[in-house]
Amino acid sequence: CGIVGYIGRREAAPLLVEGLQRLEYRGYDSAGVAVLGRSGSTRTLKAVKAKGRVRELEERLPKRFAGSTGIAHTRWATHGAPGDDNAHPHLSADGKVAIVHNGIFDNASELRAKLAAEGIELASETDSEVLAHLVARAGGETLEERVRAALSMIEGTYGVAVLHADFPDRIVVARNGSPVVLGIGEKEMFVASDVAALVRHTRQVVTLEDGEMATLTADDYRTYTTGGSRTSAEPTTVEWAAESYDLGGHDTYMHKEIAEQPEAVDRVLRGRIDDRFATVHLGGLGLDAREARAVRRVKILGCGSAYYSGQIGAQLIEELARIPADAEPASEFRYRNPVVDPDALYIAVSQSGETYDTLAAVQELKRKGAKVLGVVNVVGSAIARETDGGMYVHAGPEVCVVSTKCFTNTAVAFALLALYLGRVRDLSVADGRRIVDGLRRLPEQIQQVLDGEAAIAEAAREFASARSAMFVGRVRGYPVAREAAQKLKEVSYVHAEAYPASELKHGPLALIEPEVPTVAVVPDDELLEKNRATLEEIKARKGRIVAVAHREQERADRTIVVPKNEPELDPVLMGVPLQLLAYHTALELGRDIDKPRNLAKSVTVE
Ligand code: G6P
Repeated sequence: CGIVGYIGRREAAPLLVEGLQRLEYRGYDSAGVAVLGRSGSTRTLKAVKAKGRVRELEERLPKRFAGSTGIAHTRWATHGAPGDDNAHPHLSADGKVAIVHNGIFDNASELRAKLAAEGIELASETDSEVLAHLVARAGGETLEERVRAALSMIEGTYGVAVLHADFPDRIVVARNGSPVVLGIGEKEMFVASDVAALVRHTRQVVTLEDGEMATLTADDYRTYTTGGSRTSAEPTTVEWAAESYDLGGHDTYMHKEIAEQPEAVDRVLRGRIDDRFATVHLGGLGLDAREARAVRRVKILGCGSAYYSGQIGAQLIEELARIPADAEPASEFRYRNPVVDPDALYIAVSQSGETYDTLAAVQELKRKGAKVLGVVNVVGSAIARETDGGMYVHAGPEVCVVSTKCFTNTAVAFALLALYLGRVRDLSVADGRRIVDGLRRLPEQIQQVLDGEAAIAEAAREFASARSAMFVGRVRGYPVAREAAQKLKEVSYVHAEAYPASELKHGPLALIEPEVPTVAVVPDDELLEKNRATLEEIKARKGRIVAVAHREQERADRTIVVPKNEPELDPVLMGVPLQLLAYHTALELGRDIDKPRNLAKSVTVE
């Protein structure tokens, strides 16, 4: 979900709506805005909400919606179906308090029952609404005290912003597990759950810590703990310029972000390669050669595409560093009381750095004394801060809900890590050099793949009319197939399944028929002949095949030829045409490419 707030001298509503549009990728089931307006000498709260997208909210806003203080929200439904009533902001019964909330209040049902017993009529089915009523009923001289009193009754995670008609000169915000960023302007202040909503107005930001609160007035801000003691809040400057968040001539962010991959990969490599010793410098890891040699096992944790990039990472680490490595969904790991191995290195992977399941896994590992590194895109995000060290993947802002450039950059980041771990252990100079050279070729080779877009768009037609699609790959190709199947599902809603190539004959071969095409990842490596046998099996069942390969595959109906790199790095390149395949399938079907139904980019709830 996304939060935006504004206090200053300008009209709040247009600024808030624009901020929401920037945050829509965080959830788009419903949206709402509340401003403090003036009627005579008193201040009153006005709120408008709408199911669906921010543009529907915009249409619903009355012409006169004056006020220079306001808060707004775009929602990804957890408790309560998407609808007008369940949309934020939530108001107290007396109409004096408005709140927006990200996260989950765990004891909401108890609190709802208690409020109902006291005669309060709850207007929504959400957990969030209780906060508005609790603030309205809390004792205390100041709004800060009332918010603090209300929050002390709540268990759970939150990023919240609170407006009160009796305290019209301020917005009070608090963070516990869900991001809150203050934007520091000139005689105006902003707050948001994500810098994307702020950068057009200011690049000076303050990121709140868990357990921290802040008060924003038009001219000033201060931060303090929930206990009330002041905290230092020096603003930092956002790394990316406002233009990086724009479409830049593309029709969708997905297309823009796919196209940006050559420069993005260049960025993850920059300044890290050490030619002399055929290795890389990864100072942020905080892992010297001796510690790196002591690692007995690597466990990579992430969700969704981050998990699949972790699978590529685990293979790279096994191949180059010969350390046993595997990847697991962070969401599974944290619920199964895992054995925490003191000799293992744990790595949390996340584009946003805010995914709650991944963050919770990190916290559990740290509680048990494990060493945890982060491979993260968003600088200063929660996972980046909670881990003992790590590396940023420098993909730049990724706005489309489905990950593309960040996935690729994360895979490259793992190649760097694997090279580093390999070169302090058993990997030869010659192999180190081979990988370094391969890494350097990647940006140009990705560009070559992108230049072949027209042919991929043609291949996509078949998938747009397919009942289902099968994706197969073997060893290095398998995570590529998994991510590609996920991409197709997410963005085009065409059902897809990924299988290890050899496993096909042990079950899913039963599904193969002309209406169920297969994408086969067929690199020119030591497994080529085995993969060709899989193509034969499919062909014998009259299945249609699109191969992603280094040369034409006879048994395939169509081959997307990609340039060859080093075998260990080929997965990075072979994933790129399949991003375009998913994109063009979705385009063909008229899907909402940047905001697929039911999804959100960063899921900051359990
Ligand atoms: C959500 C998104 C996925 C993403 C996953 C992990 O489920 O819809 O596209 O891969 O979260 O996100 P992260 O920010 O942790 O990489």
